[in-house]
Amino acid sequence: MNILGIESSCDETAAAVYTDSGLKSNVIASQTVHKQYGGVVPELASRAHHKTIWATVEQALDEASLSIDEIDAIAVTQGPGLIGALLVGVCFAKGLSLARDIPLIGVNHMEAHIYANFIENQPEYPFVALTVSGGHTQLVHVKDTFDHELMGRTRDDAAGEAFDKIGKILGLPYPAGPIMDEKARLGDPKFHNFPQSMLNNKFEFSFSGLKTSVMYYLQDKDDREAFLDDHLNDICASVSHAITEVLVKKLRKAIKHTGVKTAVLAGGVSANSMMREKALEMTKKLDCTLHIPKLQYCTDNAAMIAITGYLKAQQSQFDDLEMKPFASL
Ligand code: KG4
Ligand code: ZN
Repeated sequence: MNILGIESSCDETAAAVYTDSGLKSNVIASQTVHKQYGGVVPELASRAHHKTIWATVEQALDEASLSIDEIDAIAVTQGPGLIGALLVGVCFAKGLSLARDIPLIGVNHMEAHIYANFIENQPEYPFVALTVSGGHTQLVHVKDTFDHELMGRTRDDAAGEAFDKIGKILGLPYPAGPIMDEKARLGDPKFHNFPQSMLNNKFEFSFSGLKTSVMYYLQDKDDREAFLDDHLNDICASVSHAITEVLVKKLRKAIKHTGVKTAVLAGGVSANSMMREKALEMTKKLDCTLHIPKLQYCTDNAAMIAITGYLKAQQSQFDDLEMKPFASL
């Protein structure tokens, strides 16, 4: 079985091919147009997807040495995401499906982040997944393939959003998450004790208070510029510490609550080095196996869409041309 995966939910236009013998190609065209605005501009994202999607899909097929007629199903991100951006991918996939009579599979982007862990590994069910991206922060009990129970999620900002918004306050460009990660490695995580919110609540998260607390903390400094010149790395480390402590403590609770022996990290923030280290240390102590996707499969990509489509095809979960994208799937 050869599956073409297409991803266009936010600011990456991506295509990949996954087959019975594994991942054959994984092409990502990142949109740079948003940098000057400090965040993703939805309408610009749609236009950029529209411009690059055909070339991206062609490259993915070329690199896999397959023609479109050798593709058995087209898996495409159905949501959640920016509706205009999703529409470009879904309409493109539908057109290809109709023109070449290839079955269509709608994929949930957040489920795909979880199944990114299956691209190179075979995590054992049941497991707990901590999915941490720019738009979502969720703890999911995965009992079997596509048998998921949402244990808890954020009430406000997602963890990636917290990194990006706090980074903006610190004067860093978008997306600030990876830059804060780099700077945090050079700083002192104990420099300032930022709040770790909702630790008493079982599986829900809240990160908007942390952003406010960083704002007030900097407002109190006489010379903010000079302070940041001296301590930007320390602030990045202290903020990263506060975010990752909450995430890892809640993941620990979820593992203990469910009694699972396996956990997986998923989504853009699982690329964070402090997060990876802390999660590995915590799971080791619990004698629990932790899977973390390779860096290129943590942030948005189409390999995760293709493998999720592959798993859905195995269960004959196909869609027809009535399939619609949903911003908040
Ligand atoms: O999963 P993803 O690529 O897109 C969404 O589905 O949202 O996640 C993007 C988020 C952004 O907020 C980005 O800043 C964050 O993941 N991110 C990181 C790191 N790499 C990406 N945050 C912290 N440390 C990183 N190394
Ligand atoms: Zn994502």
